[in-house]
Amino acid sequence: MNDPLSTATYPAVALVAGASSGIGAAVAERVAARGTAVALVGRRAAELDEVAARVRAAGGVALPLAMDLAEPGAAERAVTGAERALGPVDLLVCSAGTVRLAPIHESEERHWQRQLQVNLTVPFLLARHVLPGMRERGYGWVVTIGSGAGAEVIPGTGGYGVSKHALNRLTELIHEENRDHGIRAVTIAPGWVATRLAARPADLGVSDDDVLTPDDIADTVDWLLQRPARASVGPVIRVEPTASRAATRHAMTDHINGTPAPTLAHPVRETTP
Ligand SMILES: NC(=O)c1ccc[n+]([C@@H]2O[C@H](COP(=O)([O-])OP(=O)(O)OC[C@H]3O[C@@H](n4cnc5c(N)ncnc54)[C@H](OP(=O)(O)O)[C@@H]3O)[C@@H](O)[C@H]2O)c1
Repeated sequence: MNDPLSTATYPAVALVAGASSGIGAAVAERVAARGTAVALVGRRAAELDEVAARVRAAGGVALPLAMDLAEPGAAERAVTGAERALGPVDLLVCSAGTVRLAPIHESEERHWQRQLQVNLTVPFLLARHVLPGMRERGYGWVVTIGSGAGAEVIPGTGGYGVSKHALNRLTELIHEENRDHGIRAVTIAPGWVATRLAARPADLGVSDDDVLTPDDIADTVDWLLQRPARASVGPVIRVEPTASRAATRHAMTDHINGTPAPTLAHPVRETTP
């Protein structure tokens, strides 16, 4: 299924953090359709099993690993579990994320800590455990799912925006430290994607057709993975809705103006950590 004109090697084994729904599930299914064996990590076992069943029904290989990645030792367990069952991980996708939006002066410390832990420290720990093997083998990808809220300074995004901005820097560092070992690291920073994390378009007067789908992000990841070894792309690839009303800054501002605190927003709902 690879592009016949590309000389790229497509990853053989992927670990997808946040694979139980939304963007992570779509990316996992897409790379699995290309022949990549996928370890699916998230807390919700039933949802992971459903994604695994879809992968297998399409002829792919999937290993559900239900765990809270914010727990001590979980990132290492995820990598070890994936590598024992499937072989060396040569694609790490960090899509696990949590969001509690509030301006800094109203942000609760526990929400700040949780967002930094799940959105930033978990990608660091996962990368920490896959990078030595990738360096030995001279090949690997680290794809982190950032956010338009990490790329732009948007009041009210609080610890979420800070964690996603820092995730960009973490990913850039991984890239710079490992590029001569055949490893590429890229942040994909989506705008509004229709997932359970996001606001309903109708609530902001936006058409369903104007927001992105998880498959739009999977398309971007799939394209990225087919770049030839000589080409690195990034460090941040923004994928935004075309309609300005649905684009990150506009949609957030609409949400902030139209919705009382604390659900300021990036067009995302608060999720309970
Ligand atoms: N939707 C948007 O508009 C949008 C825009 C920009 C960026 N993003 C980013 O995209 C990423 C994916 O979000 P999504 O929109 O696809 O929403 P989603 O369907 O809610 O996906 C979030 C994923 O993170 C996992 N997760 C959260 N906390 C976890 C933990 N402690 N341990 C393990 N897994 C955990 C969830 O799995 P479990 O609940 O099963 O643990 C789920 O699979 C997030 O990083 C989000 O910040 C989304």
